[in-house]
Amino acid sequence: MSDTPVLVTCGLPYTNGPCHIGHLRTYVPADFYVRFLRHCGDEVVFVCGSDNHGTPIVISAEAEGITPREMSERYHRHFDETFKKMLISFDRFGMTDDPSNHARTKEVVEKLIQNDHIYKKIISQSYCPECDMFLPDRYVEGICPFCGEKARGDECDQGCGKHLEPGEIKDPVCKICGGNAELRDQEHFFFRLSDFNEMFEGYLPDLKGTSNARNYASGWIREGLHDWCITRTLKWGVKFPEHDDLVVYVWVDAPIGYIAFTEEWAEKTGGNWEQFWKGDSPVIHFIGQDIIYHHCVFWPALLEGAGYSKPDAVVASGMVKIDDKTFSKSRGYVVWTNDDYLDLGLSPDYLRYYILSYTSHTKELNFSWKEYQARVNNELVDTFGNFLYRTLHFASKKLGGVPDYTPDEEITGRIEEAISETEAAIREYEFKSAVDSIMSLASYGNIYIQNNAPWKLIKDDREKAEKVVRNCLQIAKGLVILFDSLIPEKAQEAWEMLGFTTSVKDQNLSESVTGFESEILPKPSILFEKIEDEKVEEYEKTLNIRIEEAVRKENKENKEDNMITIDEFAKVELKVAKIYEAEPIEGSKKLLKIQVDLGDEKRQVVSGIAPFYTPEELIGKSVVVVTNLKPAKLFGVESNGMILAAGDDASLLTSLRDVEAGTKVL
Ligand code: 2FM
Ligand code: ZN
Repeated sequence: MSDTPVLVTCGLPYTNGPCHIGHLRTYVPADFYVRFLRHCGDEVVFVCGSDNHGTPIVISAEAEGITPREMSERYHRHFDETFKKMLISFDRFGMTDDPSNHARTKEVVEKLIQNDHIYKKIISQSYCPECDMFLPDRYVEGICPFCGEKARGDECDQGCGKHLEPGEIKDPVCKICGGNAELRDQEHFFFRLSDFNEMFEGYLPDLKGTSNARNYASGWIREGLHDWCITRTLKWGVKFPEHDDLVVYVWVDAPIGYIAFTEEWAEKTGGNWEQFWKGDSPVIHFIGQDIIYHHCVFWPALLEGAGYSKPDAVVASGMVKIDDKTFSKSRGYVVWTNDDYLDLGLSPDYLRYYILSYTSHTKELNFSWKEYQARVNNELVDTFGNFLYRTLHFASKKLGGVPDYTPDEEITGRIEEAISETEAAIREYEFKSAVDSIMSLASYGNIYIQNNAPWKLIKDDREKAEKVVRNCLQIAKGLVILFDSLIPEKAQEAWEMLGFTTSVKDQNLSESVTGFESEILPKPSILFEKIEDEKVEEYEKTLNIRIEEAVRKENKENKEDNMITIDEFAKVELKVAKIYEAEPIEGSKKLLKIQVDLGDEKRQVVSGIAPFYTPEELIGKSVVVVTNLKPAKLFGVESNGMILAAGDDASLLTSLRDVEAGTKVL
């Protein structure tokens, strides 16, 4: 148990799309952590909220013809409800667009200005002349200046993953009209991140949490810190002080939301928010590994610069794969929390168990329905469920309830060992090891009941059978308290089967080795149902259909991308030309140097038709030539056009009837 209260937060979901397993990968472990700490007797405040600002939300809202606020409220409600269904128990789930966050962001930004961490500078940034607007972040697409992959305005999402500053993207194209963007000068405000180099030298080595967060961040600090442009020309967002045409960059007001939501929690409960943000009580951020930079570099610098306390720990989860393929909503490799899971009546506890038991927190989590079935059936059903049912069934049916004995020390010792192993693992953010410790107590229980076989003992030695069952019941009680953080709904059901009328979530871990509320046990029921093969096939089919649909959609889009308009086609100038001279090019087996007559002009064209025609047989032939190609040099010989030919043996295109040299092809 720890004497100091802790604040746990989870990365804020954007309000422009529904909850999926990628989100749960962060929230479920955070919830496990919070619930477990509470069982240890720690005081924990758990806050989160939705991330409402930024260009993706404006663009999605525009596409639907609604306001960004309406879109945000819709998805805010969606996340709030989905998290509750997944038994994720935030004390406060706020919105970054709510007044408390506008106020706190304004205060923080004003402090940063006062402390001289913000300066203004004129920068060139993407501007669309057609739409007559600057193109912040997602409004512009182009090429990453670092790796050359396709990128979005503020992030190289398909390549190196680097954060891009306004104006940095190459070949910018407007997302709204598809036209080429140009660079125009505009005054913006910058956060002097480079002021904080020294602060990071002291801060990062002591940053707790998972090592991936600390290590990535230390690497970036070594590479050197660049100042961040923290304003955008947008209407939607938190206004930059004294500049009504500018809002702060979403990555400024989103993390400040953590403070605002703590304030909202404090307002509601009479709690003290300042102990976390201005005092020594630790703040622990649970995030996905793709936003380590924002939480371990940008955010601590903002806090330091504005005179707030910095996070104590950053816990970064690894990414998610679906059937061993990189998670991708657009390619169909996704499991939607509602459509693909909860709405099918599947248990939130089973998915929580899968996420927590599959692999360690920083590794890639692979989801497959077969693996899901195996874990539920072999571990929850066959190990924990089996032990619980055998114990309760025998106790209630054959012994009439809880036998009046004290459990053996060996048994309570084994329970205490599982508790301390689990606690140690959880405090180190090793959630899989924690689950393994809990499950190994269930296996121990199974082996114990099997080896001692009370169903046989009862025939000749009832007292011994009762003692064995009393021991089993104690293990069951310990297990239910331990399992509560992992699978809260099932744990409460099991708790009631053990004859308790209280809430298991309120039990301290120390209750694992104390007695029972009642000697009478209700008739037990089956806690976990097996997942049948047919069901797995059905779920896999749904996933495969989605993947196939995504492939079809992509092919269609690619096809559409390849289509050109009549105007684009009209740009190509084609003319009939008469060949009057042809000769080989020295050193090339493929190329011929050809002179053509275009009526009012003569041209030299280099063509790769030497394997198919002798120079002599070409003289006098009418051919079709692209006449407005930019000149090129081939084997040092200038070419001013292209002769059209079809097929592998370069059959030359000509006109059916004789036409004059220079006639346009339309
Ligand atoms: O990456 C994201 O999904 C962001 N919406 C996370 C924000 S977390 C915090 F900093 F606000
Ligand atoms: Zn890149």
